[in-house]
Amino acid sequence: MARVDPHSYFDDAQPRSTRWRLKLRVDFERKVLAGEVVLFFDGGASGVVDLDTKGLTIKHASAPFELASEEPILGSRLRLTLPAGTKDVTIAYETSPSAAGLQWLSPEQTEGKKKPFLFSQCQAIHARGVVPCQDSAGARIRYAAEIDVPEGLTAVMSAGPDGDAPGENGRHVFRFNMPQPIPSYLLALAVGELQGRDLSHRSRVWAEPATIEKAAWEFAGVESMIAKAEALFGPYDWDRYDMLVLPPSFPYGGMENPRMTFLTPTLLAGDRSLVDVVAHELAHSWTGNLVTNATAEHFWLNEGFTVWAERRILKALHGDEAAALGWAIGQRELEEALERFSDTPALTCLRTHLTGVDPDDAFSNIPYEKGARFVTALERAAGTKAFDEFVKAYMKRFRFQSITTETFYAFVEEKLPGLPAKVHASAWLDKPGLPAGAPRFVSARLDELNALADGWAAGRRPDPAALRQAPAAELVVFLQRLPRELSAADCAWLDANLKLNERGNYEILAQWLAIAAASGYEPAFPRLRALLSSVGRMKYVRPLYQALGKTPAGRALAREVFASAAPTYHALTRRAAESAMAKYPA
Ligand code: BES
Ligand code: ZN
Repeated sequence: MARVDPHSYFDDAQPRSTRWRLKLRVDFERKVLAGEVVLFFDGGASGVVDLDTKGLTIKHASAPFELASEEPILGSRLRLTLPAGTKDVTIAYETSPSAAGLQWLSPEQTEGKKKPFLFSQCQAIHARGVVPCQDSAGARIRYAAEIDVPEGLTAVMSAGPDGDAPGENGRHVFRFNMPQPIPSYLLALAVGELQGRDLSHRSRVWAEPATIEKAAWEFAGVESMIAKAEALFGPYDWDRYDMLVLPPSFPYGGMENPRMTFLTPTLLAGDRSLVDVVAHELAHSWTGNLVTNATAEHFWLNEGFTVWAERRILKALHGDEAAALGWAIGQRELEEALERFSDTPALTCLRTHLTGVDPDDAFSNIPYEKGARFVTALERAAGTKAFDEFVKAYMKRFRFQSITTETFYAFVEEKLPGLPAKVHASAWLDKPGLPAGAPRFVSARLDELNALADGWAAGRRPDPAALRQAPAAELVVFLQRLPRELSAADCAWLDANLKLNERGNYEILAQWLAIAAASGYEPAFPRLRALLSSVGRMKYVRPLYQALGKTPAGRALAREVFASAAPTYHALTRRAAESAMAKYPA
């Protein structure tokens, strides 16, 4: 065979390393990881092996090697030539201080303000900036690791802990072992002043000491979610489900690192209203981590399936009405994404073609929300009972494997003959946009909220007392549906009656601030400045920079905030803000 992934030099005809041993020293002064990786070729191998690297300094390797010059998306190919019978190769190396997969935070960027913090984010193709490896989801690995950190800091990984001990010169060494085979994008590491709190016999939340209490309260219900998910998708295969609450610059809502989900602190609303993100990351334990997309071209298999799974968990826990609100919020996000990608409609297909396209640039809500609707179309056409059996069989058949859309399609056809044709699967997969007849989700409360928002333009105002107390998701549905640009008087009405500037729920706050930003409503600018100076979650940062582009005062604010906050942003967040500002009128 040959290269099978447009984003990797991995070649499936070459020997495959299925196990790593990592030994890394975390150097906060120089902002580098330095040490070695041993790549094991169990059974022995020989010949050429191409690895992915990005920004790595290769100090030494135990086999002959050649490092090619850097390609913009892929990075630098590291070509090893293994002598016959090679069982392992040791590579001594160092990461770059500007590695996109690592963010090094100063103490001021943490809650505690005293100790530095490091976290990784390897999906989609940033593992190669952390470890030289076959960085393709089709090449699964097990790993052991030794992480050497300054005394007083704790290391956690997407793995099981395997002991820790004092090291030399005021250092401490944490050992880990990951016995289940994972794709490289699920490698994860975080180091900081961390405390853990048990939530159940198999779940613990980690956070900085200043946030641990709030985090333990917010996620206390996680065991009931695990139980519901097991009933739906089969046994939980990863032993433990721990979670880590990161500092606010974390660029995503959550990341499904196995055994250690990474979460943004913006979920700590104080009322458990944002735990759908935990349901989502937990669901990835099946859809994504157990059955994995073979490449980013099949990303919908991970995310579309997981959004569907997340809403099944939510429905089992909180009922149909709650799930319908989730679908409605997603519908608006989908429409916005289709609009944002109207110039590149090929990226609105579920099955994408990404040669020459950076997966971070192709990222959108489309694989999530269109994908979840496709899965629902299959579920409705098959009947829920038959489809639930299908899902369990799918998990069993492909567990610990990485598959393509075509493999999925063939498996549906095998288990539920005729089903793909019945739902027009090829239109969902290979045609842009949302197929006519896509599933709709109805609820009485949803109709009421939509009517309230639709009355706004005609001058009708909702009863503030009723809406002020409404559950967070209801308020989000209402705000999402309001016109994007409102008069100053309208903005003032909303803020005064619904107390929007004071909200601790970031979904509500971000909806409100998007309207305020697009409307050039200056009384909300301090709140906007504060959010954009502290929170790095791209879901909020990108739309807010976009909305600020609508008025001269907004653009001035965006440029001012960016100038001061950019050095504290994650590389991905910085890029998202920059690309939004690049579209501002001159
Ligand atoms: N795996 C994703 C995050 C991701 C995707 C990181 C692609 C890098 C590249 C994660 O599971 C996710 O989807 N997070 C969402 C949660 C939401 C859909 C509930 C997020 O971050 O907002
Ligand atoms: Zn996801």
